Amino acid sequence: MCGIVGIIGTEPVAERLVDALKRLEYRGYDSAGVATIHNHVLDRRRAKGKLKELEKRLHTEPLEGMIGIGHTRWATHGKPTEVNAHPHISGGVSVVHNGIIENFKTLRAELEADGYVFETETDTEVIAHLIAREMTRGAEPQQAVQTSLTHLEGAFALAVIFAGHEDLMIGARRGSPFAIGYGNDEEPGMYIGSDAIALAPFTNKISYLEDGDWVVLTKNSAAIYDEDGAEVSRKISLSQAGALIVDKGNHRHFMAKEIHEQPDVISRTLSHYIDLGAERVDFSELDIDFKTLPRLTVSACGTAYYAGLVGKYLIERWGGLPVDVDIASEFRYREPLMADGGAALFISQSGETADSLASLSYCKSKAQKIISIVNVQESSIARESDEVLPTLAGPEIGVASTKAFTCQLTVLAALAIHIGVQRGVINEALEKELVRSLVEVPRLISEVLSHESDIDDLSSQLSHAKDVLYLGRGVSFPIALEGALKLKEISYIHAEAYAAGELKHGPIALIDETMPVIVVAPEDDLFDKTISNMQEVAARGGRIIFISDADGEAAGCELSSMIKLPKAHTFVSPLISAIPVQLLAYYTAVHMGTDVDQPRNLAKSVTVE
Ligand code: M6R
Repeated sequence: MCGIVGIIGTEPVAERLVDALKRLEYRGYDSAGVATIHNHVLDRRRAKGKLKELEKRLHTEPLEGMIGIGHTRWATHGKPTEVNAHPHISGGVSVVHNGIIENFKTLRAELEADGYVFETETDTEVIAHLIAREMTRGAEPQQAVQTSLTHLEGAFALAVIFAGHEDLMIGARRGSPFAIGYGNDEEPGMYIGSDAIALAPFTNKISYLEDGDWVVLTKNSAAIYDEDGAEVSRKISLSQAGALIVDKGNHRHFMAKEIHEQPDVISRTLSHYIDLGAERVDFSELDIDFKTLPRLTVSACGTAYYAGLVGKYLIERWGGLPVDVDIASEFRYREPLMADGGAALFISQSGETADSLASLSYCKSKAQKIISIVNVQESSIARESDEVLPTLAGPEIGVASTKAFTCQLTVLAALAIHIGVQRGVINEALEKELVRSLVEVPRLISEVLSHESDIDDLSSQLSHAKDVLYLGRGVSFPIALEGALKLKEISYIHAEAYAAGELKHGPIALIDETMPVIVVAPEDDLFDKTISNMQEVAARGGRIIFISDADGEAAGCELSSMIKLPKAHTFVSPLISAIPVQLLAYYTAVHMGTDVDQPRNLAKSVTVE
């Protein structure tokens, strides 16, 4: 998703802006640009494609200036071309923007009627023209931005600089995240960015704009105003983002590194929720009475939604609490009825997903207690929640979520035990048994990872497939969904997942000898049912890849291949079977030569609807 940065300092900014943009690369983008002001003159460089193209442009046509804004664009309105790349300029006004201006068509028509000529297909250009129009009518920059903001509908974060003003930058936030970084005496300056990670090389003193806020920055001050124009103060805290190491280590891709980190990060997450000595879960800081809670409403997107589905199985089966799970983009417009005194749980790696955030606001308006499972502790979702259950996965850079997913499952599993204990359906002996099974997970995952070369071999065959079907039942169904999503997003092979019992209601018509069918079937109480569905596939010539801790003979049919899993308690089986589906997708993509960490069209953090 688009990333914005801005710097006002005492050193040239062009290179520093590009460095900051590099730290936002993980969000996904298809063009980039920077604009600076030098000797009162506004100038910009933009390029289609990766940041190295922008660097080449800056090498041949450098930009001077100690104030500037930068942008990585993930196209929403208009193709990913240089012309559509930000910053956009009108008169002496230059703007970078993350988000969507929903009423841009109306504004564009109105501005065109006023004689403004549009160069781009973007929604952002209206912002530049609106501000420029106010200034030609005599407004000072601050007043021009304030008035223009009142015309904008939608969710956005934006930053604006003005020709002739080398000590002024104005930013605004409605919906999309916006961090402000404060320089120090040795290195004076002010910084803005889409997240604290982008600003980590410059400062760790960070504050965040709240919804509706806008800010007037000079090189040594930040005056923040709320929607009504009243000056407000926002807490400055010391960000941990600088301490987070963001490199690939010895791995070829961030995704490979992140898959391999899972034993460690799951251990770290477990130690946050488990008293290892006592073999008990520890949620002493969570102020929710699950004994009296009527039901739990979960919403999330993508992989985090699949984690929510696994959570539903775990919390209902082991915790004895009814759970509803929704895709956040559906939930937010469904206007669901919510019980008084209810609680809503949001699951998100980034903590910035626009639909999840909007669902959260809806639940807040319905007086629900807000709980979130988030990886980025400084994110908007974390800040908006009453109770935060962190996943301690560390920064996840690969667009395809892996370690964040299994850490989400870890928290959900521990939470299911806690809920079961509070509701009196898990006694002490069972609690200890389930906790022991969780503690085994990092070792079991390491065992699966030690056989990755077999999965690499198998993936070379899978890379020739046009379509792939994933099947699973019960708690393995969301793992099948997650496997299909992983394969689609990084290898671009069409994949679909079905609950195995649903096969004969339609999808079985797809089966022929060219169709790989990946069956996720741990030996649990639904194993026999899944096996009979698998045999129906085999009878029709489907090429079965069997993922199970059972022996191959238990399949009772011809298998094309088998990925043997270590024996695990059924409670933790989704955490184990998640690993081979990640590895299958990863190696298939590697065999196909796709851009594994930044697949086409995708953004890491989806901050627009
Ligand atoms: O940051 P979030 O967890 O809220 O993101 C949700 C989805 O956008 C994300 O899981 C997406 O589906 C990933 N690309 C999946 O690998």
